[in-house]
Amino acid sequence: MRLAFAVLLGGVFSAQCVWAEIVPDRDAGRAVSRQCRTCHGKDGYAKLPIAPHIGGEPAAYIAAQLEAFRSGARYHEMMSVVAKGLSDQAIADVSAWYAGFATTADLPGNLSEDDAPELCIGCHGVNGLAEIEDAPNLTGETVMYIDTQLKAFRSGKREHEVMSAIAEYLSDQDIRDAAEWYAGIPLKIGAPEE
Ligand code: HEC
Ligand code: HEC
Repeated sequence: MRLAFAVLLGGVFSAQCVWAEIVPDRDAGRAVSRQCRTCHGKDGYAKLPIAPHIGGEPAAYIAAQLEAFRSGARYHEMMSVVAKGLSDQAIADVSAWYAGFATTADLPGNLSEDDAPELCIGCHGVNGLAEIEDAPNLTGETVMYIDTQLKAFRSGKREHEVMSAIAEYLSDQDIRDAAEWYAGIPLKIGAPEE
């Protein structure tokens, strides 16, 4: 009852209410993740170069992106279709499932911390593991994925208060350099946390 009421209220007021009231169920999330594995892997380590790794991302970030694909605020021919089939509860569950993996990222020997992209490390870290809750990890994403997203922020196809403002000032070369930095760091996704 409480849930149904919260969902109803959420529809009337704002999506925030929904996420605040829904209690995520990770086991249910594991079942939902069967729909995601072909592209994002069982543990969130992507299997396609155009798909991002989502294992160990903050749950709030995963849920926000799924909600954006579902509402049309973010568009992708595959993800928009997938997200339209997910209820608020399924989004909360699958986000909790993928968020529950431990991630590690060590700089490989050929990279020096001093060369990390200065503009980005405050939020995305030197090694690409996010320093803030609402930012994604960039570690080990493909150059193609990072490049596509930065150009989408720059052109306005994807919007975010902070990232759109940053991307506006990036040249193609800046984008390439940052993408190569983060793509060059291997991401390790461990077992799910208990
Ligand atoms: C057919 C392949 C495919 C399937 C199935 C799929 N995804 Fe995706 N997903 C993608 C691609 C490709 C992108 C990148 C979209 C873009 O370029 O904007 C993506 C992006 C995402 C993002 C954004 C991540 C980020 O870093 O911004 C999330 C979250 C996500 N998917 C979660 C899911 C979940 C959860 C499921 C299952 C319910 C799922 N996806 C099923 C291909 C897929
Ligand atoms: C002040 C914090 C902040 C800084 C600095 C910042 N970012 Fe971000 N970044 C974010 C947030 C927050 C998001 C999530 C945007 C959203 O919700 O759509 C994001 C998203 C991204 C994404 C999308 C990743 C994905 O998985 O879809 C990329 C790529 C990215 N940032 C690259 C960069 C690069 C490269 C720099 C430096 C030039 C940078 N960011 C600087 C906060 C920041």
